Amino acid sequence: MTEERKSRRSFIQTILAAVSGLLAISPFSEIVRYLRSRGSAGSIRQKIANINDLPPNNRLVFTYPITGDPEKDKDPFRKFLLIKLPDGTLKAYSMVCVHLWCLVDYKPERLQIECPCHGSIYDPETGVAFKGPAAAQPNKTLPEVKLEVDENGDIYAVGVVGVIGYGKEAAGS
Ligand code: FES
Repeated sequence: MTEERKSRRSFIQTILAAVSGLLAISPFSEIVRYLRSRGSAGSIRQKIANINDLPPNNRLVFTYPITGDPEKDKDPFRKFLLIKLPDGTLKAYSMVCVHLWCLVDYKPERLQIECPCHGSIYDPETGVAFKGPAAAQPNKTLPEVKLEVDENGDIYAVGVVGVIGYGKEAAGS
């Protein structure tokens, strides 16, 4: 075996040992609990826009829950898309791809939410990935923000269903 192969093999063994060690000390539920706390919005009610701020088939990015601390508010786990679908329906999702946590975005020209990293594509009506590596996972749905619209057309985020970075399916874990 060449030196290069030996060193590659040793590198892979080190990574595998680290991953198994992590799993041993951090049961799966602990990881989910961590993700939930990092992206937790509880039931905070926060105005994010007015219905007239957004034309149909468009989107805006918002921070939720906003803290006022610029460092905390930069956290991708606080970044969400508010999408107005062509028929006027409002939807809001976490921007964190459930594959490996790149940030997704809505592409009006293709009417879909896309991840630039490995090509996962999500349905903007449901948040469910239907193409790419995210679609092959059991948890394939972007966490969704619950929205309310008042009589003035002000749109409020009132909570998140799911675990940021892990998916809407993890809502009950
Ligand atoms: S991180 Fe989005 S497809 Fe891999």
